[in-house]
Amino acid sequence: MDTKITWFGHSTLGLEFSNFKIIVDPYFTGNPATSMTAEQVNPDFILITHGHADHIGDVVSIARRTGALVISNFEIVTWLEKQGVQKTHGQHIGGGYQHPFGYLKLTHALHGSMLPDGSNGGNPVGFLLSTTGGEKFYIPGDTGLFGDMKLIGQEGIDLAFIPIGDNFTMGPDDAYKAVEMLNPRHVIPIHYNTWGLIAQDAEKWSERVRGLGAYVHVLNPGESLTL
Ligand code: NI
Ligand code: MN
Repeated sequence: MDTKITWFGHSTLGLEFSNFKIIVDPYFTGNPATSMTAEQVNPDFILITHGHADHIGDVVSIARRTGALVISNFEIVTWLEKQGVQKTHGQHIGGGYQHPFGYLKLTHALHGSMLPDGSNGGNPVGFLLSTTGGEKFYIPGDTGLFGDMKLIGQEGIDLAFIPIGDNFTMGPDDAYKAVEMLNPRHVIPIHYNTWGLIAQDAEKWSERVRGLGAYVHVLNPGESLTL
């Protein structure tokens, strides 16, 4: 069964498999890394890792237009309901739930999560998704390095999306250590080159990480990978 992964730039991801369309952290408006608009995506499900503007982005407009179910931590979905998002599912760290597209567990992330209007966005999260097709994806969200990535790696990760930008998240050296602990089959670097502040040479990083035995895919914004 084919799984299509699209990196829209920054941390915005598209996951398509078994007729499900999922968007993670939809940030199109104001995102210098993409020329796409929020009107061009039609997800059934939207996952939000934390409340920062470069992640919560266009979720309200996309959810209102498409009726997609938005999944995030309890604080963020409660806030989204106040913005007129009708279909939400709140979870929290350590908790998993069997959604139609797979079993989704929230993991912890070392970061902040304040919402754009200053509201409390709870704790930032990552996602561990076991798809209905039998694949396991790890989306850490914005985070610093933490040793429990070793435990997450014990789940057997098929694909991990690793922030490498530095300044706000792990930089290249810590991201290398993250891949070492997670031991995923495939890696896609994210959260870099959006702004000068997080400029990185992803090709150079990928050369190092390939030495760990992972398949590293450096995508251009808008580019897809089929697994
Ligand atoms: Ni952030
Ligand atoms: Mn971010």
